[in-house]
Amino acid sequence: MINPQIVVLDTGGQYCHLIARKVREFHIYAEVRPSETPASQLEGVRGLIISGGPASVYEPGSPTVDPAIFALRAPTLGICYGQQLMAHLLGGQVERGVKGEYGLAFLSVENPSQLLEGVTGRQQVWMSHRDTVHAVPPGFAVLGSTNTCAIAAIGDPVRGLYAVQFHPEVVHTHPGKRVLSNFLFQICGCQPDWDPSRRIPIVEEQIRQTANGRKVFFFVSGGVDSTVAYTLCLRALGPERVHGAYVDTGLMREGETAFVRENFQKLGATHFTVVDARKEFLPPLEGATEPEHKRKIIGEQFVAVQERILQSGHYTGQEWVLGQGTIYPDTIESGGTARADKIKTHHNRVEGIQKLIDAGRIVEPLSSFYKDEVREIGRELGLSAGLLDRHPFPGPALAIRCLCSDETGRVEKWDQGWLLPVRSVGVQGDSRTYRPALALETLPADEHLPGELINQLDGINRVVALVASHGPIAAMSGHPAGLTEERLERLRRADAIVREHSHASGFDRAIWQFPVVLLPLGTADRPDSVVLRPIDSVDGMTAQAVRMPAGLLAGIAASVMAVPGIAAVFYDLTHKPPATIEWE
Ligand code: XMP
Repeated sequence: MINPQIVVLDTGGQYCHLIARKVREFHIYAEVRPSETPASQLEGVRGLIISGGPASVYEPGSPTVDPAIFALRAPTLGICYGQQLMAHLLGGQVERGVKGEYGLAFLSVENPSQLLEGVTGRQQVWMSHRDTVHAVPPGFAVLGSTNTCAIAAIGDPVRGLYAVQFHPEVVHTHPGKRVLSNFLFQICGCQPDWDPSRRIPIVEEQIRQTANGRKVFFFVSGGVDSTVAYTLCLRALGPERVHGAYVDTGLMREGETAFVRENFQKLGATHFTVVDARKEFLPPLEGATEPEHKRKIIGEQFVAVQERILQSGHYTGQEWVLGQGTIYPDTIESGGTARADKIKTHHNRVEGIQKLIDAGRIVEPLSSFYKDEVREIGRELGLSAGLLDRHPFPGPALAIRCLCSDETGRVEKWDQGWLLPVRSVGVQGDSRTYRPALALETLPADEHLPGELINQLDGINRVVALVASHGPIAAMSGHPAGLTEERLERLRRADAIVREHSHASGFDRAIWQFPVVLLPLGTADRPDSVVLRPIDSVDGMTAQAVRMPAGLLAGIAASVMAVPGIAAVFYDLTHKPPATIEWE
């Protein structure tokens, strides 16, 4: 739809999309492409950025770039692995690191350059690498160094080739924006061309072209992406040609179905239905306790319900296309960042939907936008902040936050705390683990302690701290418990309390997601415990546990403890990895 001025070559790093997003924040349209994209397909771009990635240039099969890109007229910036790759391919030397360097360092300018113009004194930067550049390639000069890395920025201004070992795209790198804007504007000569909200008329025209006289059908989740996509289609095609359904599984949060119904009414969606499928989810889940088993049942039921809706509404007929809220990172991931080990099953594809996709009968109005840009478009369309600021929410909903068990288990005293008889899913060394959690009696002052404990102690993948309880941890035990309406209601109430408090305090805007989890752990009259799990993340692939202000925590804990049947409140302090965001 628009040619990118900047292409980010993806060498497999988690920061790749972050780089493209940062470029777009300067109002310059950027796209992500596979690192090995032939130079011939990159002609005409104003600049290239080679992203960071987890590999070593010496590993067989590690990501590389077409060396011909260095002869293009477009200046190139290598970041982290991108710097190592550039040095390696152009005749420099890369030294294999054994330990690696992760965290803050301080950058000093060694030689004047356009790239580091305006960067003065010692500036904080973020490092995350194992290998380092040991000798620069011919024609290059060292532009900057840090206390831990002698060659932290290099450049060959004649050829327009630059590289940095640190990550300019993350907030912890204080001169990061300066470095990127120097590269984009001074070195590449980019001109602002990107403003998502001003693209609305173009997107609407594309919807009309793709629909080509046909009608659009959506399954909506109530989340930001599908609602904004639906709204764009309503504007482009009018309410008679846009139909939608929302499936009420009975596993939703408090007030969710009413919220969705009200929102779509406000949008003027006249062919929007809420399908009550509550009876199709809870009965088959009775007795299922293992996370993957629960996910499998939910996936199968979803498929059955969606298939029925598609068939009964004749939505697979030739006059229909399928609308979806797919956003830009989803299109890249499905293009093949193959994760070797399956951590969790996310979704199943309905056959009817697959057929529509295979036949190209699909409208995805948001497929070139990032989440922040979708929110911007939503604001321009007049959607409420209450909708646009919603956190991501998993498809299987509260079912994967309501832990079940078919065993009785005792808590076990360890030197460092209590081993809880409750297991959760983790990701360690890129593999799935399913292990018990360790509970500390109080919140530790040292934020690194949870990670250190998991590294030191065998057999756990998560550390929580006790925040409030009706009695000592020693008096609690694990017990058989299923996905009952009573337990779901308990979790719904606790979740609603957490949402009210974190919204009123503004804390929800400082974090990415705030799962609230119910554990079958307690006493005879108070059988369950609640876990608070506020996290920050860029894309959900990795996440940091976030500490909330003491006053907010105390308020949440007091209100949750007043919910009947709750024995204790815990605080999950574990990053992802080694834990996952959700417990199941
Ligand atoms: P994990 O727990 O794997 O979660 O660290 C990463 C992100 O994915 C969300 N999540 C899901 N989203 N269907 C979804 O649509 C699912 O089955 C699912 N499971 C986890 C989770 O909420 C987090 O944002």
